[in-house]
Amino acid sequence: MKPVKIGVIGLGNVGSGALAILTGNAQSLAEKLGFPLEIAAVCSPSVNTRELPALPGVLKTTNWREVVAHPEVEIVAELVGGTGTAREIIEAALTAGKSVVTANKELLAAAGPELWALAVAHGASLAMEASVAGGIPVHTVLRDGISGDRIETLFGILNGTCNYILTEIEQKGSAFADVLAEAQRLGYAEADPTADVDGFDARSKLAILAGLAFGQRVDPATIYTEGIRRVSPLDFAYAHTLKHTIRLICAARRTPTGLLLSVRPSLLPQSAIMAGVTGAYNAVWVKGEFGQDTFYYGRGAGAHPTGVAVVSDLVRVARELRGGARTSPFAHVQLASGEPRPMEQLRSSYYLRFRVRDAHGIIAKLAGILAAKGISIDAVLQLPNEPKEDLPFVITVEPAEEGAIRAAVAEMAALDFVIEPPLAMPIEKGL
Ligand SMILES: NC(=O)c1ccc[n+]([C@@H]2O[C@H](COP(=O)([O-])OP(=O)(O)OC[C@H]3O[C@@H](n4cnc5c(N)ncnc54)[C@H](OP(=O)(O)O)[C@@H]3O)[C@@H](O)[C@H]2O)c1
Repeated sequence: MKPVKIGVIGLGNVGSGALAILTGNAQSLAEKLGFPLEIAAVCSPSVNTRELPALPGVLKTTNWREVVAHPEVEIVAELVGGTGTAREIIEAALTAGKSVVTANKELLAAAGPELWALAVAHGASLAMEASVAGGIPVHTVLRDGISGDRIETLFGILNGTCNYILTEIEQKGSAFADVLAEAQRLGYAEADPTADVDGFDARSKLAILAGLAFGQRVDPATIYTEGIRRVSPLDFAYAHTLKHTIRLICAARRTPTGLLLSVRPSLLPQSAIMAGVTGAYNAVWVKGEFGQDTFYYGRGAGAHPTGVAVVSDLVRVARELRGGARTSPFAHVQLASGEPRPMEQLRSSYYLRFRVRDAHGIIAKLAGILAAKGISIDAVLQLPNEPKEDLPFVITVEPAEEGAIRAAVAEMAALDFVIEPPLAMPIEKGL
């Protein structure tokens, strides 16, 4: 059978990883497909100065339009990132009837359904496995592996930088700012860490997974999102006392009245399988109505793990091109629209961490506020020998609605002995 020819646009981390696999694993890919997957064109502004594998006869260009227009290219790999040029590339390729493989979570979370509609209109395909959780084939799992089930809950650790920072705080007892600076020095965190540590990268990924799992289009901006900046070594000390740990958990829960979606630091039992996910690793835990629990674990980023996801998509799309069938990258023919439920409706146990100037009657005042909102205290914890002028302690509460918790926290934050607004984190029992 005739080879399928590819154009690769963007030769950074992911692009160079994909190229290395396409060239280094060509024989095995051809054996799987029954025909070769060949690179016809590569593109990046620095293509002429970059170290690349030997690519005889391959067009090297700094102009992505030449890749899209290349007569032999049937699949374009968009590995530039962002929502500007990347969108132009994808739209131009699809409009020309060429299929697209991308790793771009930001763009696909924002405009995935429109891009898929464009692909369908022009008889092309669109694939995005690498956009979430890098080397973990979680799209394939949701689209094919467990598509027979009805998903009830999905929890993910989807940002390797945050997971690295949290586990360093946990293991070394260092402050967030120090760990972040070290992560930046080692290249694990970007110079501008906002997208990672404030949860925006993770919420794009959760929006995409919610589409796959529940068939609903989710605007990332509607997902309740809290980053990890406020999590301190102290929170880990208290979490450990409660036999829990803390991770940035992306959660999607199906409820009878809609989806509950959040990205936020959360307590989870040390016995939970997710608690063992440390460093830059990612994981996804899915609970289906029929098949119950499944768990997926692996590297969430990196040239080769993400490159494998890109090349696997190229294999799938090449097979579709020669076999004639197309599969929606969202697992559903069309995504329904709808807002997620407000996070205030979440019912959960909570961890409330305080920093106060010690005085008589503090606990009674806080307990009074909680009681007035119908919230029952589960435990009060205080580590020994803490300074009285900046005294940390923790109250855990029985399951209550987040709306009541937020109202209580706002009231408590205004008390004169409270040094900073209490930190509230849900305690995830279901994992
Ligand atoms: N890094 C990861 O582990 C990872 C994991 C999962 C998903 N992703 C996603 O994968 C995509 C790429 O990420 P990355 O980490 O590989 O980024 P990167 O290292 O910054 O690479 C981006 C590449 O795009 C090229 N580029 C920029 N403008 C271009 C243009 N106008 N025309 C053609 N090429 C252009 C750059 O060229 P020059 O180098 O010549 O400037 C560079 O080669 C993003 O959507 C990202 O979210 C990344």
